[in-house]
Amino acid sequence: MFSLLRPALFQLDPETAHHLTLRGLNVAHSFCLNGIIAPRITDDPRVIMGLTFPNPVGLAAGLDKNGECVDGLAALGFGFIEIGTVTPLPQAGNPKPRLFRLPQANAIINRMGFNNDGVDALIANVKRVQYRGILGINIGKNAATPIENAADDYLICLRKVYPHASYITVNISSPNTKNLRQLQDHDALNGLLKLLKAEQQKLTDKHGKYTPIVLKIAPDIETEQVVQTAQLLKQHCIDGVIATNTTLSREGVEHLPHGSEAGGLSGAPMREKSTTVIRQLAAALHGELPIIGVGGILSGMDALEKIHAGAALVQIYSGLVYRGPALIAECCAAIRNK
Ligand SMILES: Cc1cc2nc3c(=O)[nH]c(=O)nc-3n(C[C@H](O)[C@H](O)[C@H](O)COP(=O)(O)O)c2cc1C
Repeated sequence: MFSLLRPALFQLDPETAHHLTLRGLNVAHSFCLNGIIAPRITDDPRVIMGLTFPNPVGLAAGLDKNGECVDGLAALGFGFIEIGTVTPLPQAGNPKPRLFRLPQANAIINRMGFNNDGVDALIANVKRVQYRGILGINIGKNAATPIENAADDYLICLRKVYPHASYITVNISSPNTKNLRQLQDHDALNGLLKLLKAEQQKLTDKHGKYTPIVLKIAPDIETEQVVQTAQLLKQHCIDGVIATNTTLSREGVEHLPHGSEAGGLSGAPMREKSTTVIRQLAAALHGELPIIGVGGILSGMDALEKIHAGAALVQIYSGLVYRGPALIAECCAAIRNK
């Protein structure tokens, strides 16, 4: 089915194709047709962060920023779905065009800039979903909030999404929000994690529910900073880490149409970069907290590479655009049969 649809979708501008696909998935779900689009997936449960994941292959953040298509996406067979990044207030994101396909490289460049309807709209959508599986909610800061006040935005989102999320991802690694990646620096990260952890404790008491917090990091950091980050994660008892977000590197795509567009590069060309960070994290974390591996998974073997590097779970985004939902089953099978 996907191989029939892909040529038509790739004729459209990427953002239009994106919206049409999400709408189509919702319609297919309401007519119980998603089974035709995606093969059934055998359960391969994993207990991570106290949560039971029916299989280890999840949807990465950014595809369903407002949580508008959770049921349609879940029906494709994902073991978990991450929605967002959501910010306290709605914002339009960067001017269009801001999303580019690089089909020769199975890659995407985006500079969306956290376009989203705001945290209240996301929660209203989440309240309507039928899906009862693992739902991650990825939180960020508004572009208009000065970086010195970033923690306020994360705390606003944390408080609001806490009772509705299976886990919460703190995104400090998008390259498309000015200065955001500064939050990865030692002192800034130390301060932020301390505040988030204290708030998590209060919210656990308030809601009688522990919601794990995971940090999503960039692939563009040196080994020394990976080790430092791992130490902070352990020190603050953060529940998990997602490695990685998109890269600023243009290695392997410089020569291609759109290869020099500004933004974050994802898909095949960043696979090794993200696997390297996972490997470095695994060595520094000694299994004390789980790693969710993401970046450039276009095949079952790519997913397995992340697991061998030390990831407990994986996520996909660009691979879904190029390979369609069959990639989910392929990754599950490769990991199950390893
Ligand atoms: C169009 C687009 C939008 C994205 N938006 C977000 C986002 O809002 N928050 C986030 O944490 N990651 C976002 N990402 C990054 C993905 O979640 C993922 O980390 C990255 O694309 C690497 O995985 P991939 O190679 O499988 O695409 C986005 C990626 C793409 C391609």
